[in-house]
Amino acid sequence: MSTHAADARPLMSRKSGRLQGAVVVPGDKSISHRALILGALAEGRTRITGLLEAEDILCTARALEALGAGVERDADGAWTVTGRGLGGLAAPAGDLDFGNSGTGARLMMGVVAGHPLAARFTGDASLQKRPMGRVLAPLQSMGLAIEEEGRNTLPLTLVGTGDLVPISYRLPVPSAQVKSAVLLAGLFASGETSVIESEKSRDHTEKMLRYFGAEISVEPFEGGLRIALEGRRTLKGQPVAVPGDPSSAAFLVAAALITPASDILVKNVLVNPTRTGFYETLAEMGADISFENEREVSGEPVADIRARTSELRGVTVPAARAPSMIDEYPMLAALATLAEGETLMEGLAELRVKESDRLAAMVDGLVACGAIAHARGDTLTVLGLPKVRGGATIKTHMDHRIAMSFLVLGLATEEPVTVDDASMIATSFPEFRTLMQQVGATLDEPGQASNEARGKDHK
Ligand code: S3P
Repeated sequence: MSTHAADARPLMSRKSGRLQGAVVVPGDKSISHRALILGALAEGRTRITGLLEAEDILCTARALEALGAGVERDADGAWTVTGRGLGGLAAPAGDLDFGNSGTGARLMMGVVAGHPLAARFTGDASLQKRPMGRVLAPLQSMGLAIEEEGRNTLPLTLVGTGDLVPISYRLPVPSAQVKSAVLLAGLFASGETSVIESEKSRDHTEKMLRYFGAEISVEPFEGGLRIALEGRRTLKGQPVAVPGDPSSAAFLVAAALITPASDILVKNVLVNPTRTGFYETLAEMGADISFENEREVSGEPVADIRARTSELRGVTVPAARAPSMIDEYPMLAALATLAEGETLMEGLAELRVKESDRLAAMVDGLVACGAIAHARGDTLTVLGLPKVRGGATIKTHMDHRIAMSFLVLGLATEEPVTVDDASMIATSFPEFRTLMQQVGATLDEPGQASNEARGKDHK
């Protein structure tokens, strides 16, 4: 089990102003996982630049290496994956440990399903609580076996086969992870595997599969989409330039909006429409944000995002938008505490099964900060206030985005906000603290802050 509590590293943010500068956020997490995985399944070399070098991605890299792929770091963000070709991975000597990463674990289940080998999947205390049945059910119907039959959480030993059967699968939950796991498994099945989604979720797997030479089609179907993949087609290694992660950029953008006289430019950010719901919502709230220098990189739309101090007003965020901003609700909920009026966020059931129960974690943390927030069913309501007190220590429940969202909120509250453990931020955004400080945000370890304050008192 994790020794997490013993290693907890609290961090505190304090009222800041005039955040300024141009920053580059690290590579997109979703695209980074997929580039490594497709590289390992392809023939030849895949050279990746801008890879996110955060814990979640390193877990996927280690897992692929344990399965026999060549994974090498050439320079900062520059990695080369030497693929083993479709079906060419081998049984790992030890456990595959995915740390905190649901994406890594679930996508790799689709990969292992298509190989005649057994692999034990495990992860940290947060990942061990997350539902895996959503991925295991379709994979089992394709031929995957599970040693611990009936169990739906990690650790689990999965037994793949060289003989997967294709399926047509309608997603019961809007999840790009489930869609991707089935499509990845479909690579190994002879014939057509299809996935039907009623709401469009992030489409990086489909795009990258096509880029690597897979035969894949995406067509409108019964108000949603049908993605069909022809199995057993050779993939060819390709160069991949990973753009900046819009889910990491969200924290810098949010910080600029709620601090006085601020103006931040986040450069080279992925703006794929399946990922920009947060920015769309901010625009509706009256935020001064713009996408500049829009261009295309490795088949994905990219822009520089500029954000300046803004007066925000509450809005209703419809359930249909949830897939395109699923990871940004914690930050949006924190911002909504400072908007004028009420913000209503609908269709948030999936937030209950993220790195933590994000609905509960946000409500508890916001209320502890003196804000007004409540969740009913899958709806979160936040009532904006002219000032939010802060002055609380937030339980982050091993969730990087809960930690970052509250640290950003603390830049605008009357009293500092402390998070009980900032160490999980390294799972997705190790440079968070440095970049925030670079633009002028005040973030310190609680002891450090009080020492400084004491020093000032003596002057
Ligand atoms: C991801 C999909 C989303 C998201 C996660 C990354 C992906 O999860 O929350 O951070 O890369 O496919 P779900 O597909 O479970 O919604």
